[in-house]
Amino acid sequence: MATKERWGTRLGLVLAMAGNAVGLGNFLRFPAQAAKNGGGAFMIPYIVALIVMGLPLMWVEWTLGRYGGQFGHHSAPGILQSTARGRGWKYFGVFGIWANLIIAAFYVYIESWCLAYAGFSAIGGFRDTPAKEFYNNLIGASENNIFSISIWGMGVFAVCIVLNVFILSRGLARGIETVAKIGMPILILFAAILAVRGLMSQVGDEGVVESPFVGLNFVWEPKLDSLANPAVWLAAAGQIFFTLSIGIGSIHCYSSYLRAKDDIALTGATTAWTNEFCEVVLGGTVLIPIAVAYLGLSHVADPETSGFALGFLSFPTLFQKWGWLAAPAGFLWFGLLFVAAITSSLAMGQPIMAFLQDEYGFDRKRSALAFGGMLLLLAVPVAIFEQKSFFDEFDFWGGTFALVVFAFGESILFGWVFGMDKAWAEMNRGAELKIPSIFYYFIKYLTPVFLFFILAGSIFQPKAGWDAYSNALFKGEEMPAWEWSGSGVIGKILHKDIEDSSDPQKQAFNEDLKLVRTIDRLVLVGVFLFFSVLVYFAWKRRAAEGRLAT
Ligand code: TRP
Ligand code: TRP
Repeated sequence: MATKERWGTRLGLVLAMAGNAVGLGNFLRFPAQAAKNGGGAFMIPYIVALIVMGLPLMWVEWTLGRYGGQFGHHSAPGILQSTARGRGWKYFGVFGIWANLIIAAFYVYIESWCLAYAGFSAIGGFRDTPAKEFYNNLIGASENNIFSISIWGMGVFAVCIVLNVFILSRGLARGIETVAKIGMPILILFAAILAVRGLMSQVGDEGVVESPFVGLNFVWEPKLDSLANPAVWLAAAGQIFFTLSIGIGSIHCYSSYLRAKDDIALTGATTAWTNEFCEVVLGGTVLIPIAVAYLGLSHVADPETSGFALGFLSFPTLFQKWGWLAAPAGFLWFGLLFVAAITSSLAMGQPIMAFLQDEYGFDRKRSALAFGGMLLLLAVPVAIFEQKSFFDEFDFWGGTFALVVFAFGESILFGWVFGMDKAWAEMNRGAELKIPSIFYYFIKYLTPVFLFFILAGSIFQPKAGWDAYSNALFKGEEMPAWEWSGSGVIGKILHKDIEDSSDPQKQAFNEDLKLVRTIDRLVLVGVFLFFSVLVYFAWKRRAAEGRLAT
């Protein structure tokens, strides 16, 4: 029945939590977002979002998790329910299981690319095979078809799913914690080697067009010009969510295995800072400076060519200029991404396992297999439709929008329903760090207000951008006509992100695409309903067995 699992050691817990947070988001998504949003111009909103939202939510989630754990709950529906009377919160908690599964479905897919790339780098494969060719082969790319499939790509994907299931089935301390204890030091070492070697490149070396320090400068030179642009704030807040794994239910799950008096103030802050170190110091010093050195700043700052493409398409090729280091460097880079990814994907699996264990009495093996099965069902469409639909859709709805919804709800629950005084006392129980009292006011007022604006901003987005309207109001520029942007929630629902085309063939493709995206969203809703039904029956059973105290 309800699991009695615990973390092995404090260090193990910190590493597991850091492994949870440090992932592809740190080494690929962060540099991509920073580059897309103007480098130094991105960093101020990023740091503000970290302090008024990231850090407070981190403590909130640790507290909720440890609290729910005392009642034998280890996943969001039960954890949220135990802090509030009334029936609704457990259904809201479904977000905390659902989003993990949705994110895992595309995340483990990228994880499998990293594995394939690491292996291929290690055997020196990129000496003769251009990265683009390898990539197309791996995903079975096809320009104009909606479908694409590659048998061996699916094979590597399956290997990753099996690996995740296997580690999860070994349990908390023997599985997740062990992998984190081995993986995290390796990851930091690999990243440090690449960062140092990257910064040693000089103009004059083969293929170097610019000093890597130009890239560092791009990230670190503060620029104030985007501060009035809500899109940059949205991107910065979105990155904070994703990278800290907050708003997903996964922090709650990990901290629910603590004892009532274990410290969370210091431990929670430590994992947040470890993540930030891996993100801005290591993540910021690897991808961008190396890419700038070999490809130039304009290539890196261009949204079309930065991000994913840099990591998977440009890097294997530019490492070839590093002489004998070419093959090892490729292995370090993709190996580091793979380790970062797997310690995160395990964290996505655990809440789902915990739910099945607590509520349906599954044992570890069965719940790990059930997670694997669900993952497989969702992952196949992700791999087949690749970036054209499921992948980006899952990333947007499950990996971006849902996090804000969940975080907004839980901040209201924590500061207002549970009650801020009680919540503050709970948070400080056993604390080995004095949380500055300003955070009391942040958590109660500032964080929910900030989240409200982020939420509203991601739902209502005008195509012209909010700054066009403020320019019209305050600077007398022309008022743009209202049209929804394809990157906001409403615009997406209306398919504004698919440009109509006058070419009939292209338009027919667009129509197919709209259909696939609609199906895709029905799948997302369907999965949510599925978990809601599971929650419904679990609580019915609790009531029948008279275990409804909380
Ligand atoms: N934080 C992870 C990263 O930076 C990714 C992540 C997003 C995650 N959501 C999660 C990890 C949920 C664990 C659980 O890449
Ligand atoms: N596709 C994004 C980009 O290239 C990056 C991204 C989105 C990402 N979701 C991710 C990277 C998940 C890693 C993991 O800008």
